[in-house]
Amino acid sequence: MKPEPLLNFVQISDTHLRPSGSPSGWWLSDDPEDLLRSAVARVQRLGNVDFVLFTGDLFDRAEAAALDQFLEIVQDLPCPYHVVVGNHDVVAKPWTGRLTKASFAERLKLPTELYYSVAIKPGYRLIVLDTVPDQFPHAQGRLPQEQMDWLRWQLLVYRDEVVVIGVHHPPIAPAYFRDFRLNPDDGIQFAELIAASPNVAAVLSGHLHVPRRWSYRRRPFFSAPSLGGPPNAFRHFRLEVSATVARLRYDWIPVKSGERRRPLWYPLAAGTLKDRRGRYRLSLPVLGIGGGKRLRLRLRIKKLGAVS
Ligand SMILES: [Fe+2]
Ligand SMILES: [Fe+2]
Repeated sequence: MKPEPLLNFVQISDTHLRPSGSPSGWWLSDDPEDLLRSAVARVQRLGNVDFVLFTGDLFDRAEAAALDQFLEIVQDLPCPYHVVVGNHDVVAKPWTGRLTKASFAERLKLPTELYYSVAIKPGYRLIVLDTVPDQFPHAQGRLPQEQMDWLRWQLLVYRDEVVVIGVHHPPIAPAYFRDFRLNPDDGIQFAELIAASPNVAAVLSGHLHVPRRWSYRRRPFFSAPSLGGPPNAFRHFRLEVSATVARLRYDWIPVKSGERRRPLWYPLAAGTLKDRRGRYRLSLPVLGIGGGKRLRLRLRIKKLGAVS
């Protein structure tokens, strides 16, 4: 019997909206507004989506006008949406027409700290973190101790719920991404905390502009394709649970893929097939799948060892 998705959600990342003109990088497409409208229309057609998560760099130059554009477009989403702050979304100091963390939070009705936890539906939770440093440069992320402690407390309090975590900078990534992930100290602390939290179903990041899928101690970490630059795609996740197995099914949905000329470096931005779509088998003892069985097996082996 085909398992029913218990959680159906979308990740859109790095739209880099810029109402006032040219992009800050050659790696971006020239029509981010149209791309976001197309993505919203595509989400409408997916049906029964529980939530959309924007994993940062909604805007290219932290323009307040880009936020107006964003709000106008996403009001057509058929489900709630949640926002992670990215390094292109805010400036460090007050600047006319640009967003700081304070004004970004205020305009999007987010908590001032920009890290928060949301009950998606009974038993399912989203935790959003702020990995953007308060000072430039922002290419490498950080997770201050205060936020790490808050995350540890959240994972303890909600240990009976299935949790999805959203960040802008990926906590772990191969060495060639080292300047674009969390700094190594914060990254390893974060990854170890996730490894010790069996209720975490996935960690979703943006920033790299390429779809990637990594495992760290049997926990899935996903980096999203960019919507505002090649490969102009977003992610769709479904958590499926049957009597014996829990799986996170992940896919990517290219937007307007047939209509545009692809740059030579498109294959790099598109990743491998495994990065784009597949199924990740999860151990989710919170749903009675995975952890309990392994524990029983370990106990049995121990008992057999004691007899012999
Ligand atoms: Fe970006
Ligand atoms: Fe970024």
